[in-house]
Amino acid sequence: MSAIDEVSPLGIYKEGMPWNPVEKVIMERRSVRRFKKEPLPDNVIRRILESARFAPTAGNGQPWKFIVVKSPEIIAEMERDAARISKFFMFFYGYTMFKGFRRLVSKLMANFSVMRLFSNEFLPQPFFAMTQAAENQTVYYQSAPVVIIILEDKRGVANPSVDVGIAGEHIVLAAHSLGVGACWMGFSKLLTYYPKWRKKFGLNKYPYRFGNSICLGYPAYKADKEVPREVQIVEWHEGSMNGQPRFERQGE
Ligand SMILES: Cc1cc2nc3c(=O)[nH]c(=O)nc-3n(C[C@H](O)[C@H](O)[C@H](O)COP(=O)(O)O)c2cc1C
Repeated sequence: MSAIDEVSPLGIYKEGMPWNPVEKVIMERRSVRRFKKEPLPDNVIRRILESARFAPTAGNGQPWKFIVVKSPEIIAEMERDAARISKFFMFFYGYTMFKGFRRLVSKLMANFSVMRLFSNEFLPQPFFAMTQAAENQTVYYQSAPVVIIILEDKRGVANPSVDVGIAGEHIVLAAHSLGVGACWMGFSKLLTYYPKWRKKFGLNKYPYRFGNSICLGYPAYKADKEVPREVQIVEWHEGSMNGQPRFERQGE
């Protein structure tokens, strides 16, 4: 293959070669949940946002708006309000906090109401984190010096949430490649329950709605503890139309 045929500036795959720099960034990135106090220079933030801006989108629609929050005062207030609304929810639904009859009633309420209405948000992991935040055992934003909020433009082609997800992952990967720690912060959605935050960030102002958010900052530790990933059973179709697929265990 001649150089002109090579699509990647890193060259083409050769059997058995180690991870290239892009793959290394993908494989070694971890969510960073403790940050140094040191602020992120604006040019670093801009550089990271460039990767988001270049993310692929359905129909090249770019259905988003990026908001940079770097005011410690505002982030502290976001933290306070996210914890406050967690306390509110957990007062009614945090059955782990209660004992006896109240625990039973609370658990039933949780199962039959909120968990059904907000089935994605009240899965065990977020439920546990919200319980912890409600009990002041954890904080959401971990004193991050920067929070990027991505608003999703509802008018996006097909499924704009996918585009927002891709842009967010570009942010997270670009950050890691530049020595900046990042952690998705889906819990910022809790702020959408407050008229004051809806107004401040235009969270529900047409055509936008809350997409997601990401904390950024210099990591206060080396986030090298790998989070296990499931082995995936991947279906390969290689034969005729009537043939059966071959199943491969990816990741073993
Ligand atoms: C859309 C999305 C939302 C997330 N929201 C949160 C969050 O609110 N708080 C948090 O601590 N981590 C959040 N995470 C991070 C995940 O918990 C983390 O990616 C996962 O546990 C895998 O760990 P790793 O990122 O270190 O590989 C979120 C991740 C994604 C993709």
